[in-house]
Amino acid sequence: MLTGKRILLIIGGGIAAYKSLDLIRRLKERGASVTPVLTRAGEEFVTPLSVGALAGVKCYRHLFDLTDEAEMGHIELSRAADLVVVAPATADLMAKMAGGQADDLASTLLLATDKHVLIAPAMNVRMWLHPATQRNIATLRADDVRFVGPNEGDMACGEYGPGRMAEPMEIVAGIAAMMGDGPLAGRHVLVTSGPTHEPIDPVRYIANRSSGAQGTALARALRDLGAKVTFVTGPARERSPGGVDIVRVETAREMLAAVTAALPADAAVFAAAVADWHVTNASGSKMKKDGSGKAPAIEFAENPDILAHVAGLKKNRPALVVGFAAETDDVVDNAAAKRKRKGCDWIVANDVSPETGIMGGAENAVTLISATGAEEWPRLPKDEVARRLAARIAKALGQETAEGTTDKGD
Ligand code: CTP
Repeated sequence: MLTGKRILLIIGGGIAAYKSLDLIRRLKERGASVTPVLTRAGEEFVTPLSVGALAGVKCYRHLFDLTDEAEMGHIELSRAADLVVVAPATADLMAKMAGGQADDLASTLLLATDKHVLIAPAMNVRMWLHPATQRNIATLRADDVRFVGPNEGDMACGEYGPGRMAEPMEIVAGIAAMMGDGPLAGRHVLVTSGPTHEPIDPVRYIANRSSGAQGTALARALRDLGAKVTFVTGPARERSPGGVDIVRVETAREMLAAVTAALPADAAVFAAAVADWHVTNASGSKMKKDGSGKAPAIEFAENPDILAHVAGLKKNRPALVVGFAAETDDVVDNAAAKRKRKGCDWIVANDVSPETGIMGGAENAVTLISATGAEEWPRLPKDEVARRLAARIAKALGQETAEGTTDKGD
C-alpha cells in the first residue's frame, strides 16, 4: 500500500511516543521506509535504540552530530523523504513550527523541508485548548500542514478531552491518503451513518438506538483503502472518524439534502438508521402540560427514503449503491425484497432482534445480498465487517475500471 514511500518520522517528547514505535512497524509492514528522528524530549519516552531497531536504520538525534552530517546533511535529510510525519507533535514542537524556529534537528528539518508535513498532535487537553496552541494550529493549517487527530478520550494525565494522539492506523491512513494510495485512491465514497433525530419541540425528539458504530467503522475502512469519504452522520454516540469529510445532520430531510449535495460519488453506502417519520406538527416552543390530563396529539408524515432516492437517480447515480436492512423477522427474505424495492445493488442484512445485541453492540452478523444471491458472513466485530465490505466495494469498483463493467453481483 505504501511500497517504496519514504517517510521522515519525527518523534516528539510526549507519552504518546510509545505509539510511534507501532507506527514504524505498521508503515514498514506496508512497504514504506522510515527514517526516524528523535527529539531530545522524545528520548525521555523511547530510546534511540528501539526506534532505530524497528526502523532498521539509524535514528537521527542531534543537529550538530558530525557523523550524521558526514552521512547526510540536515537539508538533504529533510528533502530525501516523500512525506514528513510528526508523531507525537507536542505543543512545543507545534509552536516552533508555527514560529519558524530551528534550534534543534527536528525543528530545523521541519523548516528546511520542501515536502508535505503531516502532524499527529498529542498533549494535555488544557494545552490543546489554550489560545496560544489554537493560534498555532490556525497558522499551521494556513501553512498547509495536515493534521491527523488529536482524538478525544481519557488521557495519560487523568483528564478527559481532545489531545490524545491518533492511533497508529489512523496516522497510516492519513499518510496513505496524502500519498494518493490504496485500491480506492481517487474514488469518492459516500457513507450515511447514525440515527436521525426528528424534533417534537425544541427540547424533545424522536430517535432510535443506532450508535453509528457500523457506519463509522465503514467510513474508516474505506478511508484506509485510500477513498475520499464523505461521511454524513446523524447525532451518533460513536466518535466520527478522522481523515474523512464529515457532514453533521440531525433530521432525515437534512440527511437527504447533505447526501444530494455530496454527489457525484463512485459508491454510496447507507448505514444510517433513518427515522421513517417526522413530526408534522412539531412545536416551535416547548410543549407544556395544560392541566387537563390530555396528551398532545403528535402527527407524523413519512420521511424521504434516501437510499431509494439515490438508487433511483437517472443522473449522478453512484455505480454501486449499498443499503443496510435492519430486520427482526425473516431477515434474508425481507432484506432481499427490500433490495429490489429500493433499487440498490447490494443490501447488508442484519438481525437487530434485542437478543442478538447487535443494535448498539460491538459485533454484527450480516448477510450480503446482491442480484446473484445471499452470502452469510460469520458474527464478527463491526470493524471486521467494515473491512470486508470495504474490500468488496474496492473489488467491485476495480472491476468496473478494469473491465468497463461493474460486477455488482459479486
Ligand atoms: N433508509 C434511508 N432513508 C430512509 C429509511 C431507510 O436511506 N428514510 C436506508 C437505510 O439507511 C438502510 C435502508 O434504507 O440502508 C433500510 O433501512 P431499514 O430501516 O431497514 O428499512 P426501512 O426503509 O425503514 O423499511 P421497513 O420499515 O419496512 O423495515
